Amino acid sequence: MSYLDIINRRRSVYALSDRLPISEDELVRTVEDVVVATPSPFNVQSGRAVVLLGAQHRALWDEIVRPTLEAIVPAESFAPTAEKLAGFAAGAGTVLFFENRPAVEDLKARFPTYAAAFDGFAEHALGMIEVNVWNALAEKGVGASLQHYNPLIDDAVKARWGIPAQWALASQMVFGGIAAPMAPIDKLPASERVRVIR
Ligand SMILES: Cc1cc2nc3c(=O)[nH]c(=O)nc-3n(C[C@H](O)[C@H](O)[C@H](O)COP(=O)(O)O)c2cc1C
Repeated sequence: MSYLDIINRRRSVYALSDRLPISEDELVRTVEDVVVATPSPFNVQSGRAVVLLGAQHRALWDEIVRPTLEAIVPAESFAPTAEKLAGFAAGAGTVLFFENRPAVEDLKARFPTYAAAFDGFAEHALGMIEVNVWNALAEKGVGASLQHYNPLIDDAVKARWGIPAQWALASQMVFGGIAAPMAPIDKLPASERVRVIR
């Protein structure tokens, strides 16, 4: 597969199973390799990932996200939310992505001229890690979607898995076997989004 084949293979896959097409060890190594390989501003390397597998993954969705949302979503409209969360729990795992905030604050202190830009730069860098992981999983036939239940779940996640208080939770990438193919998605033509000036 070419690089473009791989990135075109990546989709938001919501119909997930717990049967991965690769071993858990290979999946973990892939996440590790991607996190290390992805660039960051001034090489700050502030992105962090926590891979939850099997029962730990199910605990995130069944024991943390579900009760957190159940407490705030009106009971009469909770059924679709519960169904969506059950779909996530049916996957094989979740990667939690964090930003190590002290590293970003240290950058601001060391390079005051750029200080106002560093929060944005650090978010870009974490986004690069997220999409690189998403693409790398797609290349191996692993389906995934990117979720954002932070900041509602941050305290419970940190307490449950001993995550440092100064890591800021940015996103949750649920992954697993692809249980159903995704419908094609509409895209604007490149001509509307890319200008060439020569
Ligand atoms: C930065 C970013 C944030 C996203 N957040 C969510 C989210 O919170 N929940 C969700 O279901 N999908 C989320 N998505 C997925 C997008 O809705 C999806 O990528 C887009 O509709 C294109 O579909 P595709 O991923 O199948 O190509 C996010 C995507 C990106 C790039």
